Amino acid sequence: MSELQKFYIRTYGCQMNELDSEVMVGILEGRGLTRCEEEQEADLLIFNTCSVRDLAERKVMGKLGKLGRAKKKEALIGVTGCMANAKKDALFQKLPHINFILGTNNIHDLNAVLDDILSTKKQIIHTEDQFYSELDYLRAKRDNKVSAHVSIIRGCDKYCTYCVVPYTRGPEVSRSPDSIIEECRHLVANGYKEVTLLGQNVNSFGKDQPGWGCLFHDLLYQLDKIEGLERIRFMTSHPVDITRELMEAIRDLKSVCEFVHFPLQAGSNRILKKMHRSYTVEQYLEKVELLRALVPHVSLGTDIIVGFPSETEEEFQQTYDLMKQIEYSVGFLFAYSPRKGTPAMRWTDDIPEEVKQERLQRLLALHEEITAKQRHALLGTEVEVLIERRNSKDQTYLKGLTRCWKSVLVPGDDSMIGTLQTVTIHSYNHQTLLGTIGSRGL
Ligand code: 5AD
Ligand code: SF4
Repeated sequence: MSELQKFYIRTYGCQMNELDSEVMVGILEGRGLTRCEEEQEADLLIFNTCSVRDLAERKVMGKLGKLGRAKKKEALIGVTGCMANAKKDALFQKLPHINFILGTNNIHDLNAVLDDILSTKKQIIHTEDQFYSELDYLRAKRDNKVSAHVSIIRGCDKYCTYCVVPYTRGPEVSRSPDSIIEECRHLVANGYKEVTLLGQNVNSFGKDQPGWGCLFHDLLYQLDKIEGLERIRFMTSHPVDITRELMEAIRDLKSVCEFVHFPLQAGSNRILKKMHRSYTVEQYLEKVELLRALVPHVSLGTDIIVGFPSETEEEFQQTYDLMKQIEYSVGFLFAYSPRKGTPAMRWTDDIPEEVKQERLQRLLALHEEITAKQRHALLGTEVEVLIERRNSKDQTYLKGLTRCWKSVLVPGDDSMIGTLQTVTIHSYNHQTLLGTIGSRGL
């Protein structure tokens, strides 16, 4: 093959992967390639994968296997993301038609890897355990023109017993505050109004670099000063590292949205200990209460795992009761799946799949009941919406988010995209609120 012209990229998993894909799109477009939406048209295909749950991996393996059978002879295929680090060269054995494997910490190598393959025609693998090289975030190519993901810390040092992330993304490495501020300024200069600061645990930001004297809440104070940056979100947090200083920053800084992803994972102290979450239900609740006292209109999100090894019905019920008590507005609810290389693999995966699914369904039904009640309570009220884009299904509507991460549809024209609007909510369907621009008084 001479030169590459068109690439196709598909992203699985979390927002960190989405951002990594945006960086890769920037690198490839900088190299002169054009992105295409059809696999068959591409002479380079990249699958940016996720390993966090078994289902995510199986989807990708199925897709890549099928692709091997249908592959255009001369097209290159690369696997990036967490599966690259989790499976390493075992992937070449299972999928011999793959040309390269690039780990989560090696995205900056993409151009060099492509050059190598084009000249040597050999399979190439780069999967370092630790993140060393600053990525060229300024050239990331984003689809969303209003709200951008900004990486502030990569990796995770928490080692929850069920989770592969510390192994696939390596230890925590904070990005320098200057570089983050520069990127946010650059985004605002290019019309962005909102940033979501990303990390596996944003609250650890700066702890690996005590010399900076800049912890997560300090960073928020600095970013809040950027003229034109209307909203700052962050994702995700570990309850242990949610400090009073952070809560006060949410209360005091105009740009910081009143939404905190506060993953509980389980409602039983015995299971939390087995998960190595390093907090008890009582400590967790104390933090939630303090946050709600300091920031009365705050909304909370959570991640929950049901069917962790040895979880009894009573212990599941404790999770259920806590969800009912806390009333999260966002919930990512999962059935446990054992992941190779994690400490939880030493315990038998003893909760039958039907029981896991039944517990999951009960939690989902509860979550739906709670969020429906929350949507109902918003009827007739005014909310601040940042209009992001035209709605893809019904094009008469624009789509945006409230400060608390609720989706809102409003009729309106394209000139409103990228603006903050006061919206009066008049109805809702499923997860989305419907409203009209303007106050009730207008
Ligand atoms: N099984 C099920 N869910 C998991 N998560 C992480 N690892 C597993 C696993 N092995 C969930 C956790 C985490 C979210 C990103 O994925 O809830 O917070
Ligand atoms: Fe995984 Fe726990 Fe780290 Fe979250 S905090 S990424 S669940 S190890």
